[in-house]
Amino acid sequence: MSATNSRRKRKGSAASATTTPAPSGASVPMSEVLAALSHALDLTEGQPLGHSVRSCMIGMRLGEMAGLGAELMADLYYASLLKDAGCSSNAARTAALFGADDQRVKPRLRIVDWDDRRRLAWETWNAVAPRQPLWSRMRHFLGIAQHPGVTRELIAARCERGADIARRLGFPEGTSLAIRSLDEHWNGKGHPQGLAGEAIPPLSRIMNLAQTVELFLARGDRLAAAEALRARRGRWFDPLLADLALELLGDDAWCTGIRSPEAADQVMQLEPAARVRVVDDHALDQIAEAFADIIDAKSPFTYRHSTMVAAYAQATARQLGFSEDGVRQMYRAGLLHDIGKLGISNRILDKPGPLNTLERAEMKQHPHYTWEILRRVRAFEDFALLAALHHEKLDGSGYPWGRTAEDLDMPARVLVVADIYEAVTESRAYRTGLSNPEAMEILRAQATIRLDSDAIEALAAAVAAGEGSLEAPAAL
Ligand SMILES: [Fe+2]
Ligand SMILES: [Fe+2]
Repeated sequence: MSATNSRRKRKGSAASATTTPAPSGASVPMSEVLAALSHALDLTEGQPLGHSVRSCMIGMRLGEMAGLGAELMADLYYASLLKDAGCSSNAARTAALFGADDQRVKPRLRIVDWDDRRRLAWETWNAVAPRQPLWSRMRHFLGIAQHPGVTRELIAARCERGADIARRLGFPEGTSLAIRSLDEHWNGKGHPQGLAGEAIPPLSRIMNLAQTVELFLARGDRLAAAEALRARRGRWFDPLLADLALELLGDDAWCTGIRSPEAADQVMQLEPAARVRVVDDHALDQIAEAFADIIDAKSPFTYRHSTMVAAYAQATARQLGFSEDGVRQMYRAGLLHDIGKLGISNRILDKPGPLNTLERAEMKQHPHYTWEILRRVRAFEDFALLAALHHEKLDGSGYPWGRTAEDLDMPARVLVVADIYEAVTESRAYRTGLSNPEAMEILRAQATIRLDSDAIEALAAAVAAGEGSLEAPAAL
């Protein structure tokens, strides 16, 4: 295959969205947006795609069997889809503590029975600093062993952040509390508060059980799921709920259905009719802003990158006279352009030095992940490709598709300039941020060849006009 054909083929695969476009100007069900975006949370947690959706389906069935009322079922539904919304906030610490890829450590420790101290120690030893010298592995292992509060701290960061995000999205307190107590155990040995028995919110008890059962069911191991339920009944899990789940595991058709490719569509049918939330443009902005925070929380060195790229992209688009719809797309694309970074290890994102060849190759996958995540969200598909093009350059030297000038429209050219400007002006792990004149010099040195001159000068004008206000995106 020629290089041109090869490029054309790659380009085609990224340009042919398979979803049905959301009707122009119409509102979209919240369930659809959250179910699709929950794949980004699965990626961060190192879980197979669909983990959150399947956990929601298991939880809703258990809630129904337990006789929950309509209000509680609605709280349970949204809490289940957002249960891992805080997952990025402990990723950097997890990677640093274990000296390993956070999304490989997390699923290992999710499935192990913490009450079995020897097993936990063994799993921890297997997870620390893989392929590193023995002394390095010992250093990480002892670092964790000598810090007994570390599990509680990691879980507290995740659960409290997740609860805050649910609150910001306007969900009732019941939804937030369910997320906050997600990892509490019936015997009081869970986290973050060590609540026991009936003191644990009922929805959290259901969600904790549902997410654990899902981990086994995703591997197609129904027997292991039942074994874990029996072994942890009365320790991790509410005994009554564990009995209901065991009954559920006896339902062959249901167990097969939960793993079907249609699960994502089925979960939308479960949204409680009395509380169906439909999102308009304002709510979609709020969701994009919440996910920008999730993305930026992944690394301490990019804590406001997405919100600032959105601010620069929006301001530059206005300078260039984009329509209001165009400006709004630039804003959302800026907020979500790096959502694919949720799938990249913090061992790479936070590395205090240049990346090696393998690490660079993995890093270059993130725009591709952005495309894969956003193209599945009907409400965001108009700018999914734009967001994924943020590392492409006019001369074809960018990634992941190596597009050239003829395939990069003005919105894509603006987004790449906004991304570079923000990246070089912010301090990172291995350097301090540049001043505005230094950053503009870097951009102008690449004008015409790699970057669009009009986009650069529009950004310069936007920054000059917004001197100070561009420091605070909310002021734009
Ligand atoms: Fe990026
Ligand atoms: Fe970026």
